Amino acid sequence: TIARERDEFHYGTFPEGFKWSVSTSAYQIEGGWNVDGKGESIWDTFSHTPGKRANNETGDIACDSYHKVKEDVNLVKMLGVQQYRFSISWSRIFPDGTTSYVNQAGVDYYNSLIDSLLKIGVEPVVTLYHWDLPQALEDVGGLLNETVVDRFNEYADFCFKTFGNRVKFWITFNEPYVITWLGYGIGVFAPGINSSPGEAPYQAAHNIIKAHAKAYRTYKKFYKGKQGGRIGMTMSTEWAEPKDPNNPSDVEAADRVIQSILGWFAHPIFKNGDYPEVVKKQVNERRTPSRLPVFTDAEKVEIAGTADFFAINGYTSRLEPIPGAIQATPDWLKIVPWGMRRLLNWLDREYGHPTVYITENGVGTSDATVDDQIRVNFYKAYINEALKAQQLDGVDLQGYTAWSLMDNFEWNSGYGPRFGLFEVDFNDAMRPRTPKRSSIYYNQLIRNNGFPPLQRDERITGDFPPNFIWATATSSYQPMRSPLYLKGEPTVILMLEIDGTNGDVACDSYHKFDVDIELLRSMGVSHYRFSLSWPRILPSGNRTTINQAGITYYHALIDGLLAAGIEPMVTLYHWDLPNALQDSFGGWVGAEIIDLFVEYADICFKEFGPKVKRWITFNEPWVFTVLGYGNGAHSPNIKDSGRLDYQAGKNVLLAHAKAYRLYQTQYKAVQNGEVGITCNSDWSEPRNQYRQVDYDATNRVMQFFLGWFMHPIWVNGDYPDVMKEYVAKRSAAQGEATSRLPELTTQEKSLIFGTSDFFGLNHYTTNLAYETFSPDRINEVSYYEDREANTEQDFTWPAAASVWLKDVPWGIRRLLSWIKKEYNDPPILITENGFSEEGNSHELNDWWRTKFFHGYINEVLKAIQLDNVNVIGYTAWSLMDNFEWAEGYSERFGLHWVDF
Ligand SMILES: *[C@@H]1O[C@H](CO)[C@@H](O)[C@H](O)[C@H]1NC(C)=O
Ligand SMILES: *[C@@H]1O[C@H](CO)[C@@H](O)[C@H](O)[C@H]1NC(C)=O
Ligand SMILES: *[C@@H]1O[C@H](CO)[C@@H](O)[C@H](O)[C@H]1NC(C)=O
Repeated sequence: TIARERDEFHYGTFPEGFKWSVSTSAYQIEGGWNVDGKGESIWDTFSHTPGKRANNETGDIACDSYHKVKEDVNLVKMLGVQQYRFSISWSRIFPDGTTSYVNQAGVDYYNSLIDSLLKIGVEPVVTLYHWDLPQALEDVGGLLNETVVDRFNEYADFCFKTFGNRVKFWITFNEPYVITWLGYGIGVFAPGINSSPGEAPYQAAHNIIKAHAKAYRTYKKFYKGKQGGRIGMTMSTEWAEPKDPNNPSDVEAADRVIQSILGWFAHPIFKNGDYPEVVKKQVNERRTPSRLPVFTDAEKVEIAGTADFFAINGYTSRLEPIPGAIQATPDWLKIVPWGMRRLLNWLDREYGHPTVYITENGVGTSDATVDDQIRVNFYKAYINEALKAQQLDGVDLQGYTAWSLMDNFEWNSGYGPRFGLFEVDFNDAMRPRTPKRSSIYYNQLIRNNGFPPLQRDERITGDFPPNFIWATATSSYQPMRSPLYLKGEPTVILMLEIDGTNGDVACDSYHKFDVDIELLRSMGVSHYRFSLSWPRILPSGNRTTINQAGITYYHALIDGLLAAGIEPMVTLYHWDLPNALQDSFGGWVGAEIIDLFVEYADICFKEFGPKVKRWITFNEPWVFTVLGYGNGAHSPNIKDSGRLDYQAGKNVLLAHAKAYRLYQTQYKAVQNGEVGITCNSDWSEPRNQYRQVDYDATNRVMQFFLGWFMHPIWVNGDYPDVMKEYVAKRSAAQGEATSRLPELTTQEKSLIFGTSDFFGLNHYTTNLAYETFSPDRINEVSYYEDREANTEQDFTWPAAASVWLKDVPWGIRRLLSWIKKEYNDPPILITENGFSEEGNSHELNDWWRTKFFHGYINEVLKAIQLDNVNVIGYTAWSLMDNFEWAEGYSERFGLHWVDF
């Protein structure tokens, strides 16, 4: 519940004047490391030292931005940002780090960049120190030598004087924690010092804080009055989540983590000029004299209050394991969007409601793809959490900066992780830049200034047509006590047992159907959809024995329903095949099954047909073929994808068609009921709406899913052309004489075509489809490989307990319209739709489920009223919590909670 509330997507926009920005840093993009008089920096030295970074890569050329001002400014322009954050390379201006010599070529480069940005209306945000200390200063002790404070001040002063007429937004240092700890503690970053991790980082930090304060004071005293700019420091931290938020010592520990990363720098600057008490205590307790240097009183006064805004870089969260965190690239980056909101709230409270700018946030990928859906989702999720902090929590957030404009040199990881909104080809001397999908997304987000509510999601009001079917559903194996326990009855097919659970007892509906009927009556449904258990009626699957007790049970259930004014809607086959049939000829893969099913249907029509007016032959053939005989996730757990699932699918179609025809010839005239089939289908959208191959993949996903069964029945007796074509093509490439998708003869096609009085649809969720063809896998045989498409979901969609299930209401409306067009406007009966929660949950206020039903049912109403789709009924899954197949009792779908 906490997670559901926490992760709710929030629609809204940022305040007017909110600054959208994008960032880079000098060493990561500029290249030109030794041209036009530039001095060396510690990163030049470090990256030229073998073994210091991945693949011995360097920033010598990087994105060659030193020679590509025009190109970079064009990228900035394409994004539509209001700011561009870049850094100045100290040694490009002062080659030896001191005022002894100014390199005019370097000054010209930054002038040209700044002027070009201003020309397109983009405000430059300039970082003075993004980790590339002049090597000459490192040679005399670098950040460990206190003289660096004056050197930095002189450099800053020069920059204010030279660029400050145009630059109004200054950042002194970027991420001092990373500089000190990685550079002077563990030594994985330049200058690579790790000889005194207990002292050097504290010393470096001390000098950074003093250097920052001094530069701030210089700006304030000499420039702020006439230039009118602002100046601050960019700090970074991970969000630390208490392992157990109810345990005060965990809460304190998490707080200590943030104080020792962020507070180390922010506390002196934003509070009292000194380190946080908790950090002093921690360090002081460990050794006397303390390794933490001490600020004099005068220094404290000088340091306190030296920031005009709070600039924060945030990427990830820690304190393992974070439930639901998604591992990204590089290793340290776990996607935890809500950590951003909590971090912003933390610093808002801690530092007295400062003005905040997020100066970096982004995610890497391990390859150079421009089809970077993960980055789209990342920005969507993180920026949404930033919006919540701004709008719901009152944090004074005034800007957001994406990291990074383009792929670049990722420090000691070389060119491995790609963080760019634009791809850079590092194998091409011209270093061409290409927009990624995420750059288009970010541009749209900026144009919308956030996430305005979508017309797509607007609710409508109105009534459903008269005689609309309102139903809820179960299936026999799920709520029933197993026949195992009942004398004289056979075993149904054994389900995969999860944690030792099975449907042996389930909801015990075999003994409690009167209770179930009371629930149904109280809900006011017009119909109840349930299934008959084939082995409860025919224990060995054939007529040899008929179990009278089973027949009596179903009569009693049906009579009870009718007495309560509820129409039965009966499924003949909801996955519980008699074991004997699986054992003797392989169940659905054997042709024998067809006539046995028809025989079973015949008995059911004869027995119950006088009272049952709506029959569903099969529930979700896709599931029991692809999962039962394909990937083996469901009973009977057979793995022969791309062969036996197709074989089973064909037999299901024939069995359905024959049962339908039997009803037409033998029963329809007298009983006057309707017979149909229920298929399940997600709605699919192209993952990348700018790639034609993803549109094609989307179509294949739909045709292999719903089309496989519904196309033969509703269109022409045969599988969809695209499915035939893809399976045949791949079969041929694999040297098969015929397609692995068994052909339907002309006779079979005419048997199948037109055999459904209504279009039974189970729908739960939406996915994003994308093309997956790879010549390397051409010899692999499987339904999924044949399809050459895969699917994923947007992780910002509200999640159910079932991993495959996200709350995407608008998908059902699009699916209903698609069905109308694709299958000649059939009468559609929605036979399942619902949302799950965790099995250990006992949360009777299931507001998220209410929201799910409200959203989906409203979209069904839109389909009827606005799109003229002929929907005749809606069924909520499920009447009560039950045995959720391979997931056992770990997922609950019920409108009623069951105490198992
Ligand atoms: C990096 O350079 C060192 C020294 O030249 C060499 O031994 C090593 O193999 C190089 N590593 C890679 C991945 O090229
Ligand atoms: C610190 O830097 C100055 C030059 O600015 C130099 O004279 C001095 O020797 C350095 N101190 C150390 C300990 O390296
Ligand atoms: C019915 O099933 C039983 C058990 O599998 C089998 O022994 C018997 O031969 C079957 N009868 C017919 C008529 O197929």
